[in-house]
Amino acid sequence: MTREKKKKDSILNLLKYAGKYKWPLIFCPMVMIGEVAMETYIPKLIQRLIDEAIPYSAQSGEMSQVLICGGLMIAMALISMGFGMAGSYLGAKGGMGFGRNLRQALFEKIQRFSFKNIDKFSTASLVTRITTDVNQTQNTLIMLVRMAFRSPIMFLMSLFYAWQMNPSLTSILFIAVPLLALGIVIIMRNAFPRFQIMMKKYDILNREVQENLIAIRVVKAFVRSAFEKKKFGDAADDVTGAQRSAEKVVLWNGPLMQILMYGCIVSVLWFGGQQIIRGEMGVGALLTFITYITQILMALMMLSFLFVSIVLSRASISRILEVLNEEPDIANPETAATEVKDGEIEFDHVGFSYAGDKDNLVLQDINLHIKAGETIGLIGATGSAKTSLVSLIPRLYDVTTGTLKVGGRDVRDYDLHALRDQVAMVLQKNVLFSGSIKENLRWGDEKATDEEITAACQAAAADEFVRSFPDGYETDLGQGGVNVSGGQKQRLCIARALLKKPKIMILDDATSAVDTATDSRIREALRSQMADTTKIIIAQRITSVMDADRVVVLDNGKIADVGTHDELMARCDIYRDVYLSQQKGVA
Ligand SMILES: Nc1ncnc2c1ncn2[C@@H]1O[C@H](COP(=O)(O)OP(=O)(O)OP(=O)(O)O)[C@@H](O)[C@H]1O
Ligand SMILES: [Mg+2]
Repeated sequence: MTREKKKKDSILNLLKYAGKYKWPLIFCPMVMIGEVAMETYIPKLIQRLIDEAIPYSAQSGEMSQVLICGGLMIAMALISMGFGMAGSYLGAKGGMGFGRNLRQALFEKIQRFSFKNIDKFSTASLVTRITTDVNQTQNTLIMLVRMAFRSPIMFLMSLFYAWQMNPSLTSILFIAVPLLALGIVIIMRNAFPRFQIMMKKYDILNREVQENLIAIRVVKAFVRSAFEKKKFGDAADDVTGAQRSAEKVVLWNGPLMQILMYGCIVSVLWFGGQQIIRGEMGVGALLTFITYITQILMALMMLSFLFVSIVLSRASISRILEVLNEEPDIANPETAATEVKDGEIEFDHVGFSYAGDKDNLVLQDINLHIKAGETIGLIGATGSAKTSLVSLIPRLYDVTTGTLKVGGRDVRDYDLHALRDQVAMVLQKNVLFSGSIKENLRWGDEKATDEEITAACQAAAADEFVRSFPDGYETDLGQGGVNVSGGQKQRLCIARALLKKPKIMILDDATSAVDTATDSRIREALRSQMADTTKIIIAQRITSVMDADRVVVLDNGKIADVGTHDELMARCDIYRDVYLSQQKGVA
């Protein structure tokens, strides 16, 4: 990894998301310094107690020195505990708050993503980033603010006191510290790539879970449970394997530390013991010295954990930054128009590719002028790019070549919100959300009155069945609207779009699950109630489009013909074939 990249993936780049939680994050390290000051001073009191106070009271029979030393020790231990608790509290508060803000920022960013941005990351990966990766980063930050000052200061102060007490014994550290550092570097180098692999496996696991749960009905209908179970099992095994492989490296930290720690203690006892025999050092001093050596190594170990944690979080941070730095592919122009004049639509030599690749167009050279208020039928074989064509109108995707105008203006000049407010699209793959029917319908218009809601439902032929539910408009929908039938769901989606009172209304195969009679009732209502609204109706059934002002026939991404039903019957082979085959079905 280059230095440039390391700098880019640093947690510092995320700190601006701490917001008001920056104060606990700033105070935490300061409080931790107080804890360290106490912790490193207490051993000095032990030495005084053992080497001075106890011998003195043994001689004089007077306990005052012992009591003073002991009292001081207890007081300092209590203060240290207070600082420690305050530090933990501040660290947790700041870190959790930071995590919360970061999650919010990611979520808001994703809300601004275009369909293309989302296609690029995949939903599963976005979920991992917003959950696992943020947790990892937040935990690292908590550790960082708690240890970043505490450990180095503990190291320096213990070293200072130890050196002051006994320089020759302190030289043991000249061997122990480089060994520890070397060990840590080797462990870190090996651990990082393994943890990166682990995170990727997590992505796959998340995808498995998501796909399976979204499609659980299909899985059951096709009796694929056993297969899916095995697929999930494999993904889970992969994660376990990757995790084990990474932990296998990190776990060397423990033994490394133990060996060095006990090595040091044994050496100190050996050489220090000789000094005691020679009368150069007291027993209390030896005990205190061992405490300092332990503190020095502990501080280094904590620092190494901190390093490992930072290294690990780097993969997460980089994945979070990837999302935060992703430019929404479709953004608001600087000076955006906020008023859509009318529902006129003009495709001018429009070409479109999902990959943005000019040589591989899904839609080619589309020229089409739709007048405001016109009703357009759109027909074509599956995969002929009908959905792609209409997705360009509310700018779900941007044209690759040519221009697309709505209300006489390039769609790219509009404020996205204003444009999409005026273009209601009933998607082919539509969803309702958990909540009551009424709440779902209010997505179309938050302020809609009950009368308006009923009127929209009447137009969409939904009022009747909604009223037949025991709870009527208050009926709770399951997630994704599972507890209504396919055709009922479609009609609710149409009602929701109607409530927007848009200038352009697009129905992408929106009545495919509705019977022909109801379908024709809905179209009749649209015609009479939304005379000024431009309506684009995509359908597989010719009967759904034959009474449109004009019908566009798409063939493999190109417009094959445009005309009224009668004109097309007379001159368009594709149209006539489809019509005749469907009539035959009826007969
Ligand atoms: N998100 C996407 N990314 C890449 N390619 C896509 C995407 N969506 C559709 N396509 C491709 O674009 C082409 C046109 O698809 P589109 O969905 O517009 O067809 P359609 O006419 O609406 O079909 P249907 O009648 O089945 O709904 C297809 O070849 C499809 O593979
Ligand atoms: Mg489609």
